[in-house]
Amino acid sequence: MHKIEALEEKIKKEMKEIGYELDNITLNPSNRPDLGDYQYNGAMMLAKTYHESPFDIATKIVQKIKDFPEFKSINVAHPGFINITLSDSFLIEFANDSLKDITKNYNLGINKTIFLDYGGPNVAKVLHVGHLRSANIGQALNNLCKKVGAKTISDIHLGDWGRPMGMVILEIKTRYPDLAYFKEDYNGEEVDFNLTNEDLIELYPTATKKAKENEEIMNEARDINLKLQQKHKGYYSLWKKIVEVSLKEVKEIYKDLNVDFDLWEGESDNFEYINDLFDYLYGQNIIKESDGAKVIEVKEDTDKKEMPPLILIKSNQAVSYEATDLAAIWERVHKFNLDEIWYIVDKRQDLHFTQVFRAAKKSGIVKDNTKLIFNGFGTINGPDGKPFKTRDGGVMPLKTLLDNVTEVCEARLMENITENRRDIARMIAVAAIKYADLLPFRTTDYNFDIEKFTDLNGKTGTYLLYSCVRMNSLLKKAKEANLDYDLIKVLSTENERKILITMLDLKRIIKRSFENYSLNEICEYLYKITNLYNNFYAENKVLTEENKEKQASWLSLTKLIFDNNKYLLDILGINIPEKM
Ligand code: ARG
Repeated sequence: MHKIEALEEKIKKEMKEIGYELDNITLNPSNRPDLGDYQYNGAMMLAKTYHESPFDIATKIVQKIKDFPEFKSINVAHPGFINITLSDSFLIEFANDSLKDITKNYNLGINKTIFLDYGGPNVAKVLHVGHLRSANIGQALNNLCKKVGAKTISDIHLGDWGRPMGMVILEIKTRYPDLAYFKEDYNGEEVDFNLTNEDLIELYPTATKKAKENEEIMNEARDINLKLQQKHKGYYSLWKKIVEVSLKEVKEIYKDLNVDFDLWEGESDNFEYINDLFDYLYGQNIIKESDGAKVIEVKEDTDKKEMPPLILIKSNQAVSYEATDLAAIWERVHKFNLDEIWYIVDKRQDLHFTQVFRAAKKSGIVKDNTKLIFNGFGTINGPDGKPFKTRDGGVMPLKTLLDNVTEVCEARLMENITENRRDIARMIAVAAIKYADLLPFRTTDYNFDIEKFTDLNGKTGTYLLYSCVRMNSLLKKAKEANLDYDLIKVLSTENERKILITMLDLKRIIKRSFENYSLNEICEYLYKITNLYNNFYAENKVLTEENKEKQASWLSLTKLIFDNNKYLLDILGINIPEKM
């Protein structure tokens, strides 16, 4: 058990002995550190139940527990706050427990299987800045879920189906009508056709523009898409090629971002289940006709806003995005035994998911106790607060953005590096981008500001990396000098206490992050504890300290904070370079 939890239990028992019974009690980190490290505020609440003054209750409790070895001191403040200053031995024991097994501070015993849908890039469209947050937040939540004890299954949910595909294929057909894919007798054989991601990025907007201007072209694209869905041999083979080329680029960028998936499925895979889904829905008698479309009513009596019906099949007979997402849920709950499905998607898709979730529940595709959770995220804007564009006004490709930040990092932050400059610069750039992306609460919009995000003295990923690299190099120097250390034996400065008090609070931060599906508190926490460590570092000369017990304790503390930061950065998907 976590030491604070154990202490809470112990106090609870003593309180029971003097007549105050509670299911559980909570000690909170004090917001008046001058009065104590932790606070117990329960007396105010007990006062109502027991008709005594909170001050009297608090005083009685303190009388009963004041000799605990866990406390350095304990006192009551009006109207009934109990302020606790923890003993050094308590803090040291906690620190050494954590040094031996850092996972104790993270495992919440969450015994669930959680399916996470994030990433969601679209094939044949450039991977742009709008997809960054889904990948970052999704991956970080996935990592967090695992650390708190849950089992996870992640899926990229590629946008690889639908009319855009028809348009791109049509554009290729128009340019290269003689390709074997388009021959009557094509039979699925390998075709020598060199298609690059650059081609795709250009093909899609050209095709959309043409189709928008010309009804006939639009109809042709629709027709191709329909045939593609029926697995027309030529279109299907070409489509596979398009997906492959697109995915290769996506995989490279995701690799740099430390983003990975258990399943690399796409909407096309869900589409395989569309017939089963429709059979089921018809069986449930909940599909309605509406102006040539097929819909499911999802309105509820308590709705304050308008809630349009979910459209399964549009009036032009195309299968909708909503139907695909229902098919995805169908597939997922049939293949896996899931407690929860999380979607990490742009918050502007809120209505879409509300409709899909309601339809899934109403039709009984998911059981009542399976939770469907929409974790929407806010928009990344340019430094001026307007939608993020390239210099010539186009959408900002993620790769360009990564390259730009990498260049800035290479130019500014790497005086001491001669080898592997580009790789290290990339790592630092990824840290800068990811930290800045995870720092605001998930749903908050933010402005992308390279200068700010790479500032070595700011609340940034680069600051954190730099600090960790320095801790690591201190530990290396200690090793070279044969300085032995393994556990903390003494605390000799106020800063050391502050670090450990902050460390004690970690489990709560982890719990809240998991409950809020957001990494912002972990980011803040990393900054806070790193700052405290740096204050300690500035104040003490660790390597030249003559008192060996002190020195070994300081090195152990450094190791603890380094290990812990590494573990937290791991959750965020950020790696620490050897040098910087
Ligand atoms: N491809 C979609 C987009 O770019 C995101 C997919 C989100 N996930 C889902 N299951 N609908 O908007």
